[in-house]
Amino acid sequence: MTQPLEGKIALVTGSSRGLGRSHAVVLAEHGADVIVHDILLEEAENTLEMVRQTGREARLITTDIRDVGAFQKAVRDAGRVDILVNNAGVGGNRLAIEDVDCNIFDQMFSTHVRGTFFATQAVVAQMKERRAGKIVNISSIYAMGGSHFASHYSAAKSAISGLTKCWAREFAPWRINVNAVAPGFVATESRRASVSVEQIRERAEGMPLGRLCEPIDISHAVAWLAGPETDMMTGQVVSPNAGEVIVGY
Ligand SMILES: NC(=O)c1ccc[n+]([C@@H]2O[C@H](COP(=O)([O-])OP(=O)(O)OC[C@H]3O[C@@H](n4cnc5c(N)ncnc54)[C@H](O)[C@@H]3O)[C@@H](O)[C@H]2O)c1
Repeated sequence: MTQPLEGKIALVTGSSRGLGRSHAVVLAEHGADVIVHDILLEEAENTLEMVRQTGREARLITTDIRDVGAFQKAVRDAGRVDILVNNAGVGGNRLAIEDVDCNIFDQMFSTHVRGTFFATQAVVAQMKERRAGKIVNISSIYAMGGSHFASHYSAAKSAISGLTKCWAREFAPWRINVNAVAPGFVATESRRASVSVEQIRERAEGMPLGRLCEPIDISHAVAWLAGPETDMMTGQVVSPNAGEVIVGY
C-alpha cells in the first residue's frame, strides 16, 4: 500500500533522541526518507538505524544549529527537503526571572528561534521552486497559556508560534504549508532530568485523559501536518496535551 509520505524527504532537526527521534521514525513509517540532524552523534546513529529499519533511507547532518553558516551549508549540501520539522531545542528548566542570565536567555533564543528561523531560510527557496513544501514547527503548550518560572522558554516558543503564522501568510502563494505542534508535557529523557519521578506521576494523574502524552502522540500530529490530509491547513497550532490545557498546568 502506498504510504502518504512516499517519495518525500524530511529533515528533522534535533532528532538524535526524544521527540525528534520519534518524529523521524514516524515520518519514515509514513513513507518518507529522513535527514537526521543533531550534535549528539552516538544517539543520532541509533536514530539512523531505527529509520532504516522501517525500510526508508536515512542520512545525517551533525552541525550545531546555532552555527548558522555551517548549518545552512550542510542543509543545502543535503539536497532536496520536502518536509522540515523544526524540533531542535533545549529544555526550559524552572527559573525565576531573577535567575535567567544573558547566557541562558541567549542559548534559549539562539537554539529555538534563530535555529527555526535559519533552518527554514535554508530550505524555503527550493520549496518555492517546486511550489510545494511542509514546515512543522515545534512550539509548546507553554506558548499557549504562558508559564511561571520558565518565561525565557515560553517566550522563545511563543516566537515560534508567531513565526508559524507569519510564514503561513508569506509562503502561501507557493503552496507551502506552515503549521506548529505545541506539545503538552512528555517525559522524555531530558525532561526526566529536570522533573522528579514523583512530579511526573502526579502530573500524569492530573491529566483529564488519564495519562501523559507519549512521544508518538506528538509525532502523529507532526506526520499529519506533514502529509496530504492537511493541504488546506496553514498557520495553525495543534496541541496534543492530554487535556492539560483544560485544567491548567
Ligand atoms: N518534552 C516535552 O515535554 C516538550 C513539551 C513541549 C515542547 N517540547 C519541545 O520538543 C522539542 C524536543 O523536546 P525533547 O523533550 O525531545 O528534548 P531533547 O532534549 O530530548 O531533544 C532535543 C534535541 O535537540 C538537540 N539540540 C539541542 N540543541 C541543539 C543545537 N544547538 N544543534 C543541534 N541540535 C541541538 C539535542 O541534542 C536533542 O537531541 C524541543 O523543541 C522542546 O522544546 C518538548
